[in-house]
Amino acid sequence: MPSSDTTPIEATSAWKALEKHHQQISKSRISDFFTDDPNRFENFSAQAPELLFDYSKHLITSETLELLIDLVKQSGLEKAINEIFEGELINNTEKRPALHVALRSPHKNTAEEKAVHLALSKIEAFVAKVQNGEWTGSSGLPVTDVINIGIGGSDLGPAMAYEALSHNHTTKLRCHFVSNVDPSHLEQTLTELKPESTLFIIASKTFTTLETIQNAQVAKQWIQQSLSSNDDLAKHFVAVSSNIEQAQAFGIDEKNIFPMWDWVGGRYSLWSAIGLPIALGSNMQCFRELLSGAHAMDEHYKNSPLENNMPVLMALLNIWYLNFYKVETQVILPYVQNLHLFPAFLQQLDMESLGKSVSKDGQSLDVKSGGLVWGSAGTNGQHSFHQLLHQGTHMVPADFIACAISSTKNSEQHQHLLANCFAQSKALMQGKSLEEAKTELSAQGHNEVEVEALAPHKVIAGNKPSSTIMMQALTPSALGALIAAYEHKVYTQSMILGVNAFDQWGVELGKQLGSELFQAISSDENCSSFDASTNALINYSRKNNKS
Ligand code: F6P
Repeated sequence: MPSSDTTPIEATSAWKALEKHHQQISKSRISDFFTDDPNRFENFSAQAPELLFDYSKHLITSETLELLIDLVKQSGLEKAINEIFEGELINNTEKRPALHVALRSPHKNTAEEKAVHLALSKIEAFVAKVQNGEWTGSSGLPVTDVINIGIGGSDLGPAMAYEALSHNHTTKLRCHFVSNVDPSHLEQTLTELKPESTLFIIASKTFTTLETIQNAQVAKQWIQQSLSSNDDLAKHFVAVSSNIEQAQAFGIDEKNIFPMWDWVGGRYSLWSAIGLPIALGSNMQCFRELLSGAHAMDEHYKNSPLENNMPVLMALLNIWYLNFYKVETQVILPYVQNLHLFPAFLQQLDMESLGKSVSKDGQSLDVKSGGLVWGSAGTNGQHSFHQLLHQGTHMVPADFIACAISSTKNSEQHQHLLANCFAQSKALMQGKSLEEAKTELSAQGHNEVEVEALAPHKVIAGNKPSSTIMMQALTPSALGALIAAYEHKVYTQSMILGVNAFDQWGVELGKQLGSELFQAISSDENCSSFDASTNALINYSRKNNKS
């Protein structure tokens, strides 16, 4: 029975079979699966471009996989995969395609691909000029510092990838990222910089986002204060936007506006000129390799059988835990310091895309479309929140991400990093029984009373699922493949569960209220027009701001 607009996924026979199957296997232990099947790693891992995906440490059997694949087939995903590549209007509430795959296509067949390649040439020329000192500020000094002013997708993607590829940085140019409307973010960034050698990228698809426009205005004043004439302002600003009119009205020369298109969602945009800082930090070849890694993952997603399709498998695991084990959250643990911003990037990608409570056709959703995504770089988390992962009462499926080769020359320390990564996934799975805890305590010389009292505290339930994604090294193409795998995972999940992954109406209410509340905070009048809590908070701020 195919799932259509009128058949919710939970009404399919595949979903019902999974519910029954879940009851049958819910008491199983992952470690027993390994004992029973010496080939479990071979049977539950997939090779994708640049990435090895190990999903053997999960609460799944081959029957679970078969049923999940059945679910994919009944959801009509295979058609949906073609639709994204063919530019169908899959963002139905905004009547737009979501063509981020065109941003990394090597072809120049469609109008979108042609526009992308023109933009890439423009980026290439700009990057060369800035890097070789041909692009100068108003006083003739070359650029030493670039500040990207943007927020959400116009910040998280480029900032994450810039950091991730910092070991590839070849120039002295430094890129900084300012996103928060808290004035201290920009102020602190400017403290050490000279206006004469600073270039701003105003990155905003809409060029209307409050935080970005506020910061851009302050940046403009900072530059203007150091200039003798306004004519030179344009040398310190470029923009990435689809709102050419507003960018020009701000004072940016049209030839210095890089394109963005309405067929690219903000959180899927790092492959466009939004990724300028990535190219500026390293070079254009690096940026092109990032794109080609993502394209290789696109091909894998489009052409691989469902059983070996990494993004499909990732999505199915997420659906399995969210809806059958009823977990709420997923932790992302890159054991790669340069990927320390990856969890924050994924938070927007996953939660802004999947945080929905109605289906594509507006019906209220009876399944969980997405979970809470969080995490940080290992090993740091081991000394902070891993305690809850091991002994807390939650089940938190984890994604470990690691590289076989370090981006540094210190291979011994890197081996410690890897050993810790693999030890964590093993510990989560294996746990420690009461018997084991008692034996350990006795061996340490504790008497019987102490053993009885202490042992329960040392028990670790185990049976906590995790995936491990390995790459040979954190190259630009491996990074591209990794990001694209998660993008397609999100799309797969959205299509199976029937939600639109490309709109974000939920953020609008806060923006509307924010502008009303700004009027109240900046007014001289006592505020009494909102609820008692909001009124009191506004009046407290007004009073204390004046004193
Ligand atoms: O938070 C909402 C949002 O629209 C994101 O989806 C987007 O990435 C961000 O704001 C920034 O938007 P813009 O690039 O238009 O400034």
